[in-house]
Amino acid sequence: MTRTTLRIAMNGVTGRMGYRQHLLRSLLAIREQGGVDAGDGTVLWPEPVLVGRREHALRAIADRHGLEHWTTDLDAVLADPATDIYFDAQITSAREPALRKAIAAGKHIYCEKPTASGLAGALELARLAERAGVRHGVVQDKLFLPGLRKLKRLIDGGFFGEILSVRGEFGYWVFEGDWQPAQRPSWNYRAQDGGGIVADMFPHWEYVLHGLFGRVRSVQAEVVTHVPRRWDERGKPYEATADDAAYGVFRLEGGAVAQINSSWAVRVHRDELVEFQVDGVEGSAVAGLRRCRVQHRSATPKPVWNPDLPLTESFRDQWQEVPDNEEFDNGFKAQWELFLRHVALGEPWGWDLLAGARGVQLAELGLRSAAEGRRLDVPELTL
Ligand SMILES: NC(=O)c1ccc[n+]([C@@H]2O[C@H](COP(=O)([O-])OP(=O)(O)OC[C@H]3O[C@@H](n4cnc5c(N)ncnc54)[C@H](O)[C@@H]3O)[C@@H](O)[C@H]2O)c1
Repeated sequence: MTRTTLRIAMNGVTGRMGYRQHLLRSLLAIREQGGVDAGDGTVLWPEPVLVGRREHALRAIADRHGLEHWTTDLDAVLADPATDIYFDAQITSAREPALRKAIAAGKHIYCEKPTASGLAGALELARLAERAGVRHGVVQDKLFLPGLRKLKRLIDGGFFGEILSVRGEFGYWVFEGDWQPAQRPSWNYRAQDGGGIVADMFPHWEYVLHGLFGRVRSVQAEVVTHVPRRWDERGKPYEATADDAAYGVFRLEGGAVAQINSSWAVRVHRDELVEFQVDGVEGSAVAGLRRCRVQHRSATPKPVWNPDLPLTESFRDQWQEVPDNEEFDNGFKAQWELFLRHVALGEPWGWDLLAGARGVQLAELGLRSAAEGRRLDVPELTL
């Protein structure tokens, strides 16, 4: 088959997300499967150019995976007409300036969330990209999780009737780093480095709520730093200046109420690291990363509150598993494939920098709501 090669400058490829999800599980997996079938006898073939600050780290990754191209010179790779796409999975605070450069160089843009540190910057990026006429996209991986895909299927099939509420629970204990190393990078816990769970997770909640139930109309949040002192990658103690838990209430278009707890200071007593319970008049569902279970109104038990009697039923066992009915690929890879098709074939695409800006907006308003102790409307964004 003829190959249409798309050369992708990947910045931040030494990081957790850049390496594992985007290089290994997405682009290299796409190459392993023979590329993306364009449907006309040709395949789209991603050619990564690893970009970063540390030569030895880039070289090690390139050698490990037999990749030819890597560089520490971002400007040079952006000036290179052979580069088609700029992808960014750097730490959040480094993203905006790099995206600006890439847009100015006329490259198509794909990047991790949040797209910028503040709404003004995020909107400006969306405007610049539109004006430059480049194609642009933001990672919204949670929409591609099997559990949420099944939940979407239920919504599209009218399972819930009127949807009343959404309850989300996300989080796990992130070790402080003293007696056991932390399992997340330390910049996540420093506000000055772009950290914080609101900046990290509210962009996800925006597109999940928006994509499944409707636009977020208002936000009210309590934001806390539960663990004030942590130890970094070198074992040095530091002050955790960023929030590590957020308790948010969101009013959705259509009237449903969503309430989502996000915490890196919680121990898991759930089936999955994130779970959403959706209650509708006709039925309810609990969806996680992989699983989705339902209870229809016809099979809803009638518990009676009586603390004097021991429980005689197992509530969890009263739910029914939603079958996969299809194969689910890695969510990051699935979205990459769609983006490559969007760039090369002009296929439709809904997760652009304006959508990314909505995520940044919700994070910004969530933090402001907490600081001011009040509920805030979320104005609709336009370019
Ligand atoms: N979509 C998701 O589910 C998801 C999950 C986690 C993180 N993220 C996002 O991905 C991005 C990267 O997160 P990560 O967890 O992979 O972080 P990480 O610390 O593991 O990686 C950060 C990358 O940025 C590079 N970098 C550039 N400038 C830097 C600087 N000044 N200091 C430190 N590193 C610098 C590092 O070399 C590294 O390649 C963040 O914006 C984060 O919000 C998304």
